[in-house]
Amino acid sequence: MRILIVGSGAREHAIAWKLSGEIGKENIFIAPGNGGTLTCGTNVNGDITDFEALKKIALANDIDTLLPGSEDAIAQGVRDYFEADSASKHIYVLSPDKYAGQLESSKSFAKEFMAKENIPTAAYKAFTHETVNDGYVFLDSLNPPYVLKADGLAAGKGVLIIDNVEEAKAALKDMLVDRKFGDASDTVVIEEFLDGIEFSVFALTDGKNYTLLPEAKDYKRVGEGDIGLNTGGMGAVSPVPFYDENLKQKTIERIVIPTVKGLHNQDLNFRGFIFFGLIAVNGNPYVIEYNVRLGDPETEVLIPMLDESFSELILAAKNEKLTNGTARIKSGYCTTVFAVSGGYPESYKKGKVITLNDNSETLFHAGTKMENDMLCTSGGRVMAATCFGDTLQNALQASYEKLSYIEFENKQYRTDIGNDLKVYTT
Ligand code: AMP
Ligand code: GLY
Repeated sequence: MRILIVGSGAREHAIAWKLSGEIGKENIFIAPGNGGTLTCGTNVNGDITDFEALKKIALANDIDTLLPGSEDAIAQGVRDYFEADSASKHIYVLSPDKYAGQLESSKSFAKEFMAKENIPTAAYKAFTHETVNDGYVFLDSLNPPYVLKADGLAAGKGVLIIDNVEEAKAALKDMLVDRKFGDASDTVVIEEFLDGIEFSVFALTDGKNYTLLPEAKDYKRVGEGDIGLNTGGMGAVSPVPFYDENLKQKTIERIVIPTVKGLHNQDLNFRGFIFFGLIAVNGNPYVIEYNVRLGDPETEVLIPMLDESFSELILAAKNEKLTNGTARIKSGYCTTVFAVSGGYPESYKKGKVITLNDNSETLFHAGTKMENDMLCTSGGRVMAATCFGDTLQNALQASYEKLSYIEFENKQYRTDIGNDLKVYTT
């Protein structure tokens, strides 16, 4: 296998790290990569949505497999682009095409898909500019809080949860009439609020069969106690201690199997990763959202937890040999905590020199780059300190210790990652 991984985050670093131990770093290319991926393969300049440039890189390096890390390239049709050109159509793009990618890029598409397959999710209705008045009536018929979702990709900012019905109506008007999120809010999904605990389940599928990967829980808010602005993720834990055998069986039977069957029933050109964003309400799983890729920072724990070859799983997907089972998973826990630049997710400084007093492998870089032979910050989320432990407590302690070996000006992090899960471990 010669693989081109598209992206520059800690997710792509974790994937490149795992694959480098399996297929050798000479077979791994990352576009554009970061200061950490340099040690697992070759970084190549390339914007993640400049498909012409990605194709040239792929052809020049004899790439046979392309793995887009984030949703942007998928939503803009990277697979369609590679398949449309006779020079690149032999390259196996591990993602859905643009149409099937709407499972993530359009909330209403995902909701209709689930309705057709009877997959448990919050009750909903979709509205447009023309039907905004019906939207107000629908809001009046619901109990608070009200959940409003911009249909399209809005960088994690398109979901509003509002307690007061008049404020919810004003927000609906902002989105539909005043186009708060631009084209992304041409359609707005209003849905029932589900009160429960969230977790993420991942599968690799070839469109017919699947393999379940380790599950995880992420921490999205910038502040301790999960308050404040949403971020690209401040930390993650795997496995999820409340995801017991009972919840797992319900998730597989009610959600995973019907989803994979639905891809086939609805003739979707889907392969790659399905990220089930789930919520357990009274022990029953519901889908909050689908993503069509691996999560970040969940990948920084789920990839290290995998106790089997990731490249062989990718090959099994390519050869349509996935077995509808669960991948082998290591025992114990894996945790990751992000070191971020002070001020993130609002304004922050870049270009700060990073001193690493710990060079262990599972320090996954995100916003880093080499400048004049010095490792410097180049983004808000700088690096993720991933560690294992026989218990959740020990894994977290190791992650926090690893974090203390990373130095850069105005380093910040959440000190409470995983604390809410300790009650579920004995
Ligand atoms: P989404 O982008 O659809 O994942 O939504 C972002 C976040 O909003 C989720 O991670 C949940 O915390 C919350 N959320 C979304 N939909 C609902 C819902 N129906 N009930 C409760 N919380 C929700
Ligand atoms: N951790 C959430 C995401 O990757 O979208």
